Amino acid sequence: MQWPTPALFILALAPLSGALIRFQCSQLVVQRLDPLVNPGMIPAAHVHQIVGGNSFNATMDPKKDMPGESTCTTCSFSEDFSNYWTAVLYFQAKNGTFKRVPQTSQIGGGVGGITVYYMQDALYDTAQKSKVTAFKPGFRMFVGDVYARTKAEVAQFRQLTYTCMENQGTRAPETLDFPNKPCKAGIMVNARFPTCWDGKNLDSPDHMAHMAYPASGTFESGGPCPSTHPVRMSQVLFEVVWDTSKFNNKADWPDDGRQPFVWSFGDATGYANHADYVFGWKGDALQKILDTPCVVNCAGAKTQTTANMNKCVQKAVVGEDIDGWLTELPGGHKVQYGPSS
Ligand SMILES: *[C@@H]1O[C@H](CO)[C@@H](O)[C@H](O)[C@H]1NC(C)=O
Ligand SMILES: *[C@@H]1O[C@H](CO)[C@@H](O)[C@H](O)[C@H]1NC(C)=O
Repeated sequence: MQWPTPALFILALAPLSGALIRFQCSQLVVQRLDPLVNPGMIPAAHVHQIVGGNSFNATMDPKKDMPGESTCTTCSFSEDFSNYWTAVLYFQAKNGTFKRVPQTSQIGGGVGGITVYYMQDALYDTAQKSKVTAFKPGFRMFVGDVYARTKAEVAQFRQLTYTCMENQGTRAPETLDFPNKPCKAGIMVNARFPTCWDGKNLDSPDHMAHMAYPASGTFESGGPCPSTHPVRMSQVLFEVVWDTSKFNNKADWPDDGRQPFVWSFGDATGYANHADYVFGWKGDALQKILDTPCVVNCAGAKTQTTANMNKCVQKAVVGEDIDGWLTELPGGHKVQYGPSS
């Protein structure tokens, strides 16, 4: 598998004791389903892009046997039948209509989707020596706030950010709101989940309360987990690259200086960045990989070809146009530019 700019990992390698894994998942389906927040609802509130195992459906009962019910996965790690999803981006033209922004895969030949990381220590730490516990069947979580429209509201999640990409390797700076200028190589959305588990609940009513951030410091600085959430888990990070290049002509942007991108649920600030995760690895495959020292290309992990990943697709069950020039966002969401509008 080829990664275009593995610049991060060319740093001198200290002896590893655990794994940092990074793999690509191609698009499974793009549609209005959300089994975590709107279980059973067809259609759900807003459009998502979903990757992973093909047992994904509108209900996703916690007892669902995701590896058993899936016949394929869109992830390059072929024992991962988890589902990962985010909202999708739309471009709003001057005449008010919307066009879905395509996604770029970070591997040659991949189809859209998400780059997924599981790490035991900070992304740039080449030792990965903190032991972490893998998630269990039935585990799921959410991060972010669909209603956030201010910096303070998103800052509580610490690490939901955007990178305005000059080229494929751009990783900084990260902002909490949408970039306010055209980004040559697209906009990367980074979603990092909290890393401290209460050790008991596989889920919680808001899909967040069973997880917490370190009591002091950060995951990156090795901060300790709070006593209420004592189990240190791996940090899950999604990178999603939105190919905004077709929409970068400043003449097509609003005359008042606003940026033109809007999430599928109407947020034009970017502060409502959020992500969903439903664990579905086969057996103890994830724990085994995490316990085997490696970075990115993990020999112990079973993988599949990009062609096989791309073959795994689902037909949308929600029959609606999400890709034309749309007069309104699917679901009828109004565009919100700030807290009071
Ligand atoms: C989703 O899959 C489950 C099996 O895990 C099945 O019982 C259920 O009917 C499916 N629901 C929908 C809405 O397709
Ligand atoms: C609105 O603008 C877009 C982009 O310029 C264009 O493709 C589309 O046809 C326009 N729609 C209408 C209804 O004018």
